[in-house]
Amino acid sequence: MELRMEAVTHRLRAMLAETDEPLCAYVYDLEALRRHASAVTAALPDRCELFYAIKANSDLPVLRTLAPIAAGFEVSSGGELAWVREHFPDLPVIFSGPGKTDDELRLALRTAVDAIHVESLQELRRLAWLAEAQRCQAPVLLRMNLSLPGLASTTLMMGGKPTPFGIPADQLGDALHLLRDSPSLRLRGFHFHLLSHQLDADAHVALIGGYAAQVRDWCGVHGLSIDHINVGGGIGVNYRDPSRQFDLDAFAAGLRRLCERTPDLPRLRFECGRYITAACGYYAMQVIDLKHAFGRDYVVARGGTHHFRTPPAQGHSHPFTVIPVADWPYPWERPALHGATVNVVGQLCTPKDVLAFDAPVERVRAGDLLVFPYAGAYAWHISHHDFLRHPPPRHDYLPVEAAHAEDQ
Ligand SMILES: Cc1ncc(COP(=O)(O)O)c(C=O)c1O
Repeated sequence: MELRMEAVTHRLRAMLAETDEPLCAYVYDLEALRRHASAVTAALPDRCELFYAIKANSDLPVLRTLAPIAAGFEVSSGGELAWVREHFPDLPVIFSGPGKTDDELRLALRTAVDAIHVESLQELRRLAWLAEAQRCQAPVLLRMNLSLPGLASTTLMMGGKPTPFGIPADQLGDALHLLRDSPSLRLRGFHFHLLSHQLDADAHVALIGGYAAQVRDWCGVHGLSIDHINVGGGIGVNYRDPSRQFDLDAFAAGLRRLCERTPDLPRLRFECGRYITAACGYYAMQVIDLKHAFGRDYVVARGGTHHFRTPPAQGHSHPFTVIPVADWPYPWERPALHGATVNVVGQLCTPKDVLAFDAPVERVRAGDLLVFPYAGAYAWHISHHDFLRHPPPRHDYLPVEAAHAEDQ
């Protein structure tokens, strides 16, 4: 995951020169995205493929960069499905997510998605009924919720405990019954997404090994033949200590060993979101005010968590860099802090609008720019943009290098 701070800073300085307003912007580095996604697909062993979970960032330039690299896109709503089909009519799409409506399932059938990840018995029943009415056969993966021995937990668990996601393993028999009785359904495999924020490569290989063993067991017991296992997304990004990221090489080596010692392993399909796009995005805020209150230093900057909700959503203090800006238009001394520990807040009227806390800074002045890296996934797209009706940030994209531009 390469950060190209210099190129991003260059672009931000150009934007600063174009406005008298305090700057607030997202910059996405598409070339870094292309390189990172290519490195991930190159690292995966032969019987593995990478889908991109567009919920992490569904901007068109991001999707256009990833479309030639990923095997396809994972969508989790009718809106995402329609968006992908409008712009990438031929790309393989897989459809996940709880609470799918009849209309969404009809759209999935009509647009020939590669697989529908079914979340419940009721959804399976509705899908059979809808597919029969449309005189087609629905390709089904059963999304399972199960507890695996030694399942390492992270800060965001979607399974292995009571959650609304997937079919609990003790309902598998009923689901298979339904599948056998429904010629309009075809079981293609199983889907798992038990957790996100996985930073430990070995633990992630072990988790996938656990899925594979469980599926082999189910296939044996129930006489099933499947063509792939979807092992979800979940690879994390270390926001707290960016120097210690997920070890892709160790993961790929572990996965290769798993494939070698399991010759009958079905194809493994990944649907990663955060790990693919987080590092390509940067959120920049220009400092408006410095304040000292009850012994604490506050940096108040243009924008806030209505643009960049990732830090409060994950409960971390987001790392940032101070970019010095020389320009100071006022006829009085410029407020500055040196060797301080600060909280960075935005413009919202809530004490929850905190992007970084207890953060050491060498120097920060009113008018300087703060740049938050790792803002390319679950950032703009999970934020409550309309709160207080501040203007949106600018969105800017550093293009892929010319040699690769024709792939887009
Ligand atoms: C079903 C499913 N697949 C994939 C993902 C992507 O997860 P991540 O961004 O952690 O890779 C999610 C995220 O919530 C999900 O719900």
